[in-house]
Amino acid sequence: MNIAIIGTGNIGTALGKAWAKAGHTIFLGVRDLENFKGKEMLGIANVTVHSIGEAVKLSEVILIAAIPPATAEIVNAMGNVNGKIIIDTMNSVRSKPEGYNNTFEALTDLAKGAEVVKCFNSTGFENMANPIYPNDVHLDMFMAGDSKTAKETVKQLAKDVGFADCYDFGGNDKVILLEQFALAWINLAMMQGHGRNIAFKIIKR
Ligand SMILES: NC(=O)c1ccc[n+]([C@@H]2O[C@H](COP(=O)([O-])OP(=O)(O)OC[C@H]3O[C@@H](n4cnc5c(N)ncnc54)[C@H](OP(=O)(O)O)[C@@H]3O)[C@@H](O)[C@H]2O)c1
Repeated sequence: MNIAIIGTGNIGTALGKAWAKAGHTIFLGVRDLENFKGKEMLGIANVTVHSIGEAVKLSEVILIAAIPPATAEIVNAMGNVNGKIIIDTMNSVRSKPEGYNNTFEALTDLAKGAEVVKCFNSTGFENMANPIYPNDVHLDMFMAGDSKTAKETVKQLAKDVGFADCYDFGGNDKVILLEQFALAWINLAMMQGHGRNIAFKIIKR
């Protein structure tokens, strides 16, 4: 699958490396082709760097892992996203997109014709770089959004990273719950002192 990554920092790099390893073709979409976070990914065979518009044009799936206030600027730079899947990883913890409560709300409003899925927001980037814990326990990922077909694609992409499963929280109305779920992880990891190497796992009986 052709995947554009906009926001090539901690999250973009962890997922870009994992997807490239799984055989996907990665188009990094950056503002400055010479100077950007995650430049070391260019050492991987199926990773190339482009303007944001060009990376989007070449891809079926777009991962946005930038900062919330940049959302409108990124939508402008992406150009036509009709029929494409956008994966929104951004949590409006410290900042929000201007005029919106969160990035998902902004993306569903501004990125016309795209199918937006919230995913890869609910745990730390270290868990995305390596979702396998001792005794070969593979972590779970979580997602939400209205498009069932887009969520099927995103679920597979989560499995390609190494997650055991990607649980569906529900439609667009459940995105806020997923963002609060991220805050629950941040609270346990940072405020309650458990550190960043913790994660949620669904168990059943
Ligand atoms: N870090 C985590 O563990 C974690 C976990 C879950 C969710 N998240 C969410 O994921 C997002 C990314 O987090 P991160 O830790 O990966 O951030 P980061 O390492 O600080 O990287 C941010 C990236 O955003 C890019 N960017 C900033 N403004 C931009 C703009 N106007 N247009 C295009 N790109 C722009 C930066 O580009 P340059 O390289 O050009 O500076 C950089 O590549 C955040 O919204 C965060 O809430 C993070």
